[in-house]
Amino acid sequence: MAKAAALLREGKLVGIPTETVYGLAANALNPEAISSIYAVKNRPSFNPLILHIANAEEAEKYALSIPKLASELMKHFWPGPLSILLPKSDLVPDLVTAGSEKVVLRVPNHPLTLRLLSEVEFPLAAPSANMSNTVSPTSASHVQQGLGEKISYILDGRSTIVGLESTIIEVIGNEIFVLRDGGITREELEKFGEVRQMKSTKQVQSPGQLSKHYSTRKPLLLVEDIEAYISMHPNKIYSVLLFEEKEINATKHLLSKDYDLAEIANNLFGKMREADEDDSEAILVEPIQEVGIGRAVADRLKRASVKN
Ligand code: TXA
Ligand code: MG
Repeated sequence: MAKAAALLREGKLVGIPTETVYGLAANALNPEAISSIYAVKNRPSFNPLILHIANAEEAEKYALSIPKLASELMKHFWPGPLSILLPKSDLVPDLVTAGSEKVVLRVPNHPLTLRLLSEVEFPLAAPSANMSNTVSPTSASHVQQGLGEKISYILDGRSTIVGLESTIIEVIGNEIFVLRDGGITREELEKFGEVRQMKSTKQVQSPGQLSKHYSTRKPLLLVEDIEAYISMHPNKIYSVLLFEEKEINATKHLLSKDYDLAEIANNLFGKMREADEDDSEAILVEPIQEVGIGRAVADRLKRASVKN
């Protein structure tokens, strides 16, 4: 903890655990440190970063104003996988928001990172700790594999417990607009207000919202019926991502034994990596039920897949 804090104070990058995926953290008030996040990840400069803070009180420093409904959501869901887009205060460097007047704030729910956030004197800008357009990391060793050479330190907080990224929302009046589905489901948000899909406009266009993202190196194909697809392509070697136990003539990567959506979400990125490394030519997966956290899983699978 002391080493991570010291390196961050020096403007260095540190891999940090959260409940969703590992982050690549830097002092959010140090523009040079933020630039190195973009450089290390090979991240396009127009794609803004989430500002991670220690608690809801901190939000008042970095947001110019906070709608009543947004502050209710903070009270209820923080710390936790809900990120909120708000008008930014002057304290937030333009590099964090890629020039936007709005900043995304989040209080991650991980004991080590919460301690780290309360120890350092600044908030942490942190995207997922992977190279841009690759599968997000859910363990310290994933971070080591992808970025190990390029970063100073990884704070190992074990495997993440949600397994995919936070839900990003913006509150407008009594409505909650979803910019990215994630760890907090729409069903949970509906208890607080009308939930709508944010139409992607130029302003919010960013790789996390673009159609191709989170890619494996091999093609990942979303197919209606895996068995039928395999029997139509007998000369190909496939691996399959399964949501429940099934008899299938291919290398199996089981995300859950019995279609448990939370378990599927938590295993998704790790199993995508395993399938990427086995001896198959392509990865097959069927569409998932789009309810609860299944919606975020469906979103990541669609954006990891090649259109066929
Ligand atoms: O769970 C998470 O949110 C993880 C952990 C590390 O906290 N972080 C994460 O960061 O997923 P990243 O950078 O991989 O994805 C953040 C998404 C991007 O699609 C980015 O474009 C969007 O949030 N975003 C960040 N700030 C924004 C802003 N000011 N306006 C619009 N979109 C923003
Ligand atoms: Mg990411």
